[in-house]
Amino acid sequence: MSNLSNKVAVVTGGNSGIGYATAKLLIALGAKVIITGRNKAAVDEAAVQLGATGLVADQGRLADITRLADAIRTGFGKVDILFLNAGVASFSPVETASEEHYDSLMDLNVKGVYFTVQKLLPLLNDGGSIIFNTSVNAVLGVPGSSIYAASKAALLAINKVLAKELAPRKIRVNAVSPGPVTTPLYGKLGMKQEELDGFGQILGSKVLLNRFASPEEVANVVRFLASDDASYITGTELTVDGGLTVNAVV
Ligand SMILES: NC(=O)c1ccc[n+]([C@@H]2O[C@H](COP(=O)([O-])OP(=O)(O)OC[C@H]3O[C@@H](n4cnc5c(N)ncnc54)[C@H](OP(=O)(O)O)[C@@H]3O)[C@@H](O)[C@H]2O)c1
Repeated sequence: MSNLSNKVAVVTGGNSGIGYATAKLLIALGAKVIITGRNKAAVDEAAVQLGATGLVADQGRLADITRLADAIRTGFGKVDILFLNAGVASFSPVETASEEHYDSLMDLNVKGVYFTVQKLLPLLNDGGSIIFNTSVNAVLGVPGSSIYAASKAALLAINKVLAKELAPRKIRVNAVSPGPVTTPLYGKLGMKQEELDGFGQILGSKVLLNRFASPEEVANVVRFLASDDASYITGTELTVDGGLTVNAVV
């Protein structure tokens, strides 16, 4: 397994779930890690637990993203690994989806991610690694998830284009697409507990491995993509879904 000492990694949304587990793993392998999040208390607490640098930034706001880039330039001077993990999920059928619902998902999951890449690019070393956290939801046709699915599908498209645009700088650009992962995300979907339990049961039973992933199982794949172990991999999507997407028909 590649050692990551001397690497600087940025993990957006690093105070919880997949981002937290990834920050923990990268730090264990020697990287200096910056985590971001909206909530100062949560970011500070996670940063202390992890031994990371915590910077408060709403990744959906361009002013915050610019401030974040300035703080990283001043504190670290460079970035080697950028994990675009911060994201929100909420569901609504098309008939009742509001403009606010649309904007809240697209502003963070697409616009914020896109401009985080843009603003951090001048700091990203040639030979660096960018990883988008997308979702198999982008291709599953789950009712009520049209806007969330579209936001993740947009990242998959951006992933391919940026792989090409950044290849002259030897920056590798990839996506990790998790299936269901046990994180606080599900509690934020706006579903009642019994709806959530039912949804979780149906989802889990469709997974060939018959369970949700742990955040650490996704972190392992991000670690791989971030490191020289994946030195010949760019422009691709690694699906981490326990076989969910090959179980669609029977
Ligand atoms: N869990 C799954 O099954 C699953 C499956 C596929 C893909 N994903 C993707 O994985 C990523 C991480 O999700 P998770 O499951 O680990 O959920 P999570 O535990 O809720 O983590 C999401 C992280 O993003 C942060 N965040 C949310 N809005 C933000 C904003 N505007 N600015 C900065 N940070 C913000 C959250 O901080 P707060 O504490 O402030 O909310 C939190 O740290 C998301 O992009 C999600 O779409 C998750």
